[in-house]
Amino acid sequence: MSFDRSIKIAPSILSADFADFGREIEAVEAEGADWIHVDVMDGHFVPNLTFGPPLVKAIRKHIKTVMDVHLMIAPVDPYIDAFVDAGADVLTAHLEAGAHTHRTLQAIRAAGVKAGLALNPGTPVEAAAPLLDLCDLVCIMTVNPGFGGQSFIETQVDQVRRLRAMIGDRPIHIEIDGGVDPKTAPLVVEAGADVLVAGSAVFRGGSVSNPAPYGENIRAIREAVQI
Ligand code: DX5
Ligand code: ZN
Repeated sequence: MSFDRSIKIAPSILSADFADFGREIEAVEAEGADWIHVDVMDGHFVPNLTFGPPLVKAIRKHIKTVMDVHLMIAPVDPYIDAFVDAGADVLTAHLEAGAHTHRTLQAIRAAGVKAGLALNPGTPVEAAAPLLDLCDLVCIMTVNPGFGGQSFIETQVDQVRRLRAMIGDRPIHIEIDGGVDPKTAPLVVEAGADVLVAGSAVFRGGSVSNPAPYGENIRAIREAVQI
């Protein structure tokens, strides 16, 4: 099968109702989400705490698309098996999370899931060059990780463009995470991104009892990137 470089919208459940993840996921998938982005934070690598493997496992059965797990934790390696067992399809670790990211990516792939590498805004994309052949996805952070609803860091667009050139025709997704909305999405798609994570821009204005805004918000991003 050829590599799917079409644009995929991945709502981040960080902006959903934490007491109702199952129905939130079902609603946002029914409204057109391509992947579901799951933000795991440890209060150490990033200054915020979310949830761990048991919750990720519990929501897995509500996801019909792709479960995209973004680990903002350090260390990563002791938890890889738990997140694979929880059902991650893509497991993404940060380059900045430890000294042995090469080993981490190898371990993720060896565990049988797709391996992602995330880069903070302060990290030059060139640092990923020796790791690209171990990656199925590279996530460029367009905010400093830790919280939803922050402003898009526009200087990251040039980093996306440079990463796109480095990847060439290798089958590696470029994911953008942070501050993606109908205004910023075209900038990163034009620079070469294909997976757009969006939290606040998807969940704003809707709820499980009124999910239509989720669909309108997803369509607004999709329409903005028809360039
Ligand atoms: C930030 C998280 C993001 C976040 C994006 O640390 O990794 O996935 O939920 O939220 P928005 O789209 O609101 O910037
Ligand atoms: Zn994320």
